[in-house]
Amino acid sequence: MLKETRILLRNAGIINPNSIDDYLNAGGYLAFQKALSLSGENVLEQIANSGLRGRGGAGFPTGIKAKAVYNVRSSELKYVVCNADEGEPGTFKDRFILEHDPHSLIEGVLIAAWAVGAKKGFIYIRGEYFEAIEKVRAAIFSATEKGFVGENIKGSGFSFHLEVMPGAGSYLCGEELTLLESLEGKRGYPRIKPPYPAEKGLWGNPTLVNNVETLANLPIIINEGAEAYRKKGTAKSPGTKLVCVSGDVKKRGVFEVEMGCSIHDIIFDLAGGCEDKSEIKAVLLGGAAGTFISEKQLDLPLCFDALAEQGLTLGSGAIIVLGENSSVLEFVGSILKFFKHESCGKCVPCRIGTSHLYDDWMFAIGNSSPDKRKVLESLVVDASKIASACLCPLGQSPVMPLSTALRNIPHLFDESQRS
Ligand SMILES: Cc1cc2nc3c(=O)[nH]c(=O)nc-3n(C[C@H](O)[C@H](O)[C@H](O)COP(=O)(O)O)c2cc1C
Repeated sequence: MLKETRILLRNAGIINPNSIDDYLNAGGYLAFQKALSLSGENVLEQIANSGLRGRGGAGFPTGIKAKAVYNVRSSELKYVVCNADEGEPGTFKDRFILEHDPHSLIEGVLIAAWAVGAKKGFIYIRGEYFEAIEKVRAAIFSATEKGFVGENIKGSGFSFHLEVMPGAGSYLCGEELTLLESLEGKRGYPRIKPPYPAEKGLWGNPTLVNNVETLANLPIIINEGAEAYRKKGTAKSPGTKLVCVSGDVKKRGVFEVEMGCSIHDIIFDLAGGCEDKSEIKAVLLGGAAGTFISEKQLDLPLCFDALAEQGLTLGSGAIIVLGENSSVLEFVGSILKFFKHESCGKCVPCRIGTSHLYDDWMFAIGNSSPDKRKVLESLVVDASKIASACLCPLGQSPVMPLSTALRNIPHLFDESQRS
């Protein structure tokens, strides 16, 4: 029977998120003070040795990214930007940290800032997360009052200022370079990579962009040490992962599990299995830009590498369960509608292409005559063409859900007609 391993969520529901004293009494800000007693290089070494990989979706090694920012010597001004945009459908884990333990994130940002030598930071929070925005702002205020943020922090000579920036209501603004455009006050259009943010980020300066969950891991790594941290999870995906289980399960919510546990156990032991004891028809892993798996694949371990070997993705940690009474065909339609709606319009392949994918699919599933399998096969080809011609990762997103629905859901086309 799988149980949660609550490390990141150690304080959630236990301390008052509005009280810095509660956080301090729970051992809060000790990791940051420990980091201040070490050199930035030493802290970076520990982050790299922990094997921590980004929790925003791509799983990029956090230590490598932070070292790249540290290594840029040409700029005096460096930034740390926390990506709390959380726009991926089915994903609501960062919100849980922001609302239940905002100081654990602020402490992570401070550790990252000290390590890379940043003087200024922003937490870019999804605009609709009103409660989170308020709580994080209040937490920064009390951390500043206690001398953890501001000038000459705890007499160390290190100064760091931190601000909240509410997001602009666009999915694409969660993509790191578009996020930086938005932070600079511009329209949420993508930038071409390279240069990457580590080299040329906010206002052209070296910038570390990390997800909320990634940064919230840093106090744990510094407190416990890299070796102890690596004892949880798998060799290539150490630590725990916050997963967001939604759809046709009995208990929807955020759960913290060790990397490597089975997807089946998350769905059945933690989320209580399907509602009304119905069979699972399909599961979408990683949100709208994620990958479909069938019930037969539920024993796969939840970690970056094992899933990637199967052409699947862990993404942001969303697990959307579709039971017998859900229509996968309609669900695929809602995913395509999402991409059509969120395409920023800057490049033609994505602007026109996402509309075409949605329109053709809706016509096919609403009409009894077209061969749906053929339509889906041709849409996978079209989605691949859009992916190769578009400017940013949004236009690349429809390929994975479409191709894995076709490949992995055997009963996809057995569904009864729905008008
Ligand atoms: C369309 C799109 C939307 C994204 N939205 C988010 C988001 O809401 N939150 C997030 O942390 N990363 C998001 N990402 C990933 C970020 O670009 C980036 O990889 C991440 O913030 C890096 O942090 P990490 O290394 O800690 O994972 C998105 C990427 C794409 C392509």
